[in-house]
Amino acid sequence: MSELKNPLGLKRIHHVEFYVGNAKQAEFYYRKAFGFSRAAYMGLETGNREVTSYVLRQNRVNFILTTPLSPEHPGADHIKQHGDGVHDIAFLVEDADHAFHEAVRRGAKPVEDPHDHGDENGVVRHASIAAYGDTIHSFLSYNNNNGHNYSGPFLPGFIAQEVAGDEVGIQLVDHIVGNVELGKMNYWCDFYRDVMGFERYITFDDKDISTEYSALMSIVMSDGGHNIKFPINEPAIGKGGKSQIQEYIDFYRSAGAQHVALLCKDIRHTVAKLQANGIEFLRVPDTYYDEITDRVGAIDEDVEDLKRLGILVDRDDEGYLLQIFTKPVEDRPTVFYEILQRKGCKGFGKGNFKALFVSIEEEQRRRGNL
Ligand code: FE2
Repeated sequence: MSELKNPLGLKRIHHVEFYVGNAKQAEFYYRKAFGFSRAAYMGLETGNREVTSYVLRQNRVNFILTTPLSPEHPGADHIKQHGDGVHDIAFLVEDADHAFHEAVRRGAKPVEDPHDHGDENGVVRHASIAAYGDTIHSFLSYNNNNGHNYSGPFLPGFIAQEVAGDEVGIQLVDHIVGNVELGKMNYWCDFYRDVMGFERYITFDDKDISTEYSALMSIVMSDGGHNIKFPINEPAIGKGGKSQIQEYIDFYRSAGAQHVALLCKDIRHTVAKLQANGIEFLRVPDTYYDEITDRVGAIDEDVEDLKRLGILVDRDDEGYLLQIFTKPVEDRPTVFYEILQRKGCKGFGKGNFKALFVSIEEEQRRRGNL
């Protein structure tokens, strides 16, 4: 990526950090149900008196689950406000100082100035800026030419602590969706364009994605290389009911990360394992599968397999994708996951929105939130 297209020198998503009420139990859930392995740990036993954090890893996906150990830690207020949720979508960058200063020059709100973060394994340079709601973007740089070298198991402060999960084939974060307040979609798209150097990749309006109630609008922002994709949703006014995005915002009590989409290579295998592990997915009516071949044409997979597993299919002019969405993974109807496999298709499943939103509305109705 050129300097012009990548003004902050972003390389990839380094990790996603969640603030959770009880990291010990959340870690068990992500390991036993989602097939992550524990890779690293910090807490009282490692001399950290402020938080406990577990690093969960599956192929190229790194999640940190963090619980503050006192009400004074800022994470405690995050949990009080939002419940369990995404605190930080952190990037590995060429140079954290450059990324931070350039982002702030371009209008980002600073959260943490660049500083050294080290332990006996070396030093990482770290800074962060504000994103939507209370979400932040950290910039991390190490093992580059700037003298910040790090050889520890994850990041400074963590010790290696390996507890193997039974991996389900999750490979990579494909995209992370932000839900923002009514009227704020363009503001945040401009933020990703002007501050991060992203471009508008795909736009969905309320004609693409509305049912009677659950309307939303969405713009996908992406870096020049299309490695990092951040769709931004805002509620749209439906015909009398509450948008699913508004339901999220009411319960998250601000803008925030709605879903993390996890890419896999064989979705039938991954979803079968996740279902066996007890992960609950949204289901569309069986009639969805009657029209599937007419809608998407020939596919490699057996439609009966997809129907049994509840996997959805959509096509663009470059190929097709297979996708499925979990129900929210906490009691508030907020954060959920998408599992997807791409076979050439670069889209986000627009052809499935109608069918999906009917089942989302059914869930909203059962929660008394429509
Ligand atoms: Fe998605």
